[in-house]
Amino acid sequence: MRMDRRWFWLIVAMLAALSVCQAGGNLSVHFYKDTCPRVEKIIHEVCAEKIKAAPTTAGGTLRLFFHDCFVEGCDGSVLIAPSGKNDTEREAEINKSLAGDAFDVVIRAKKAVEEKCPGVVSCADVLAIVSRDLVVLTGGPSWPVTKGRRDGRVSNISQVEFNVPDASFKLDQLLHIFESKGLSKEDMVALTGAHTFGFFSL
Ligand code: HEM
Ligand SMILES: *[C@@H]1O[C@H](CO)[C@@H](O)[C@H](O)[C@H]1NC(C)=O
Ligand SMILES: *[C@@H]1O[C@H](CO)[C@@H](O)[C@H](O)[C@H]1NC(C)=O
Ligand SMILES: *[C@@H]1O[C@H](CO)[C@@H](O)[C@H](O)[C@H]1NC(C)=O
Ligand SMILES: *[C@@H]1O[C@H](CO)[C@@H](O)[C@H](O)[C@H]1NC(C)=O
Repeated sequence: MRMDRRWFWLIVAMLAALSVCQAGGNLSVHFYKDTCPRVEKIIHEVCAEKIKAAPTTAGGTLRLFFHDCFVEGCDGSVLIAPSGKNDTEREAEINKSLAGDAFDVVIRAKKAVEEKCPGVVSCADVLAIVSRDLVVLTGGPSWPVTKGRRDGRVSNISQVEFNVPDASFKLDQLLHIFESKGLSKEDMVALTGAHTFGFFSL
């Protein structure tokens, strides 16, 4: 794993901004203050254990968070399992490198949170917190995660292709996708700094 501090701070700022933009306001660092005060501690313990067993989980999970945010907002819909013939966003993600460990750590964290505060914390918030914790655990900086995202109920594999940038995309296609999420050229460059970290199978 390789990391460049300068880029990393930019990414952190952008991810924080992205989360706020997409949820339409009312997110707060203290969202679960009364309903699940230990949520961050519970999730951190799960992440610490996971990163010991599988150190490459961090990159895949941050990427999963990015992909979740780009398809219908940061609503956890990338986690929805397919049912019957309806292929969900996850089916596209599962083919991407290390997605297995990324899903696993989020599911473990959600389970641990459910044991203490059943039915309170959204999957979308769990994914946001897990992504931050794994960055911290692999030597990156920390940032406060605002919470209060609502989980989406729609997850359609057909939405992934157009919303999630692919390595073959031309610059104008990339800019168009980021623009459609309310993100500027500068935002795109900063966020792409995430590639200074993680594992690449290409
Ligand atoms: C600008 C458009 C982007 C394109 C075209 C792109 C494309 C890719 C590709 C092709 C890979 C390699 C996947 C593999 O290992 O097979 C990758 C990995 C990765 N991407 Fe991006 N990406 C983009 C933006 C982002 C953003 C905005 C983030 C997060 C803020 C991000 C986070 C990551 C991470 C962390 C990895 C490493 C995953 C791992 O360790 O398994 N990417 N990306
Ligand atoms: C934010 O909170 C205010 C007051 O509690 C509420 O009226 C408003 O609808 C909320 N906005 C969103 C996007 O949930
Ligand atoms: C598949 O999606 C359709 C349309 O959203 C829904 O009516 C149906 O119940 C879904 N089928 C399954 C097996 O989830
Ligand atoms: C994922 O890979 C499997 C086989 O490896 C393939 O059948 C399937 O079409 C792929 N799905 C996507 C969305 O690329
Ligand atoms: C997913 O999207 C495609 C294309 O828009 C549509 O044909 C299909 O019915 C959708 N599936 C579900 C389950 O809504």
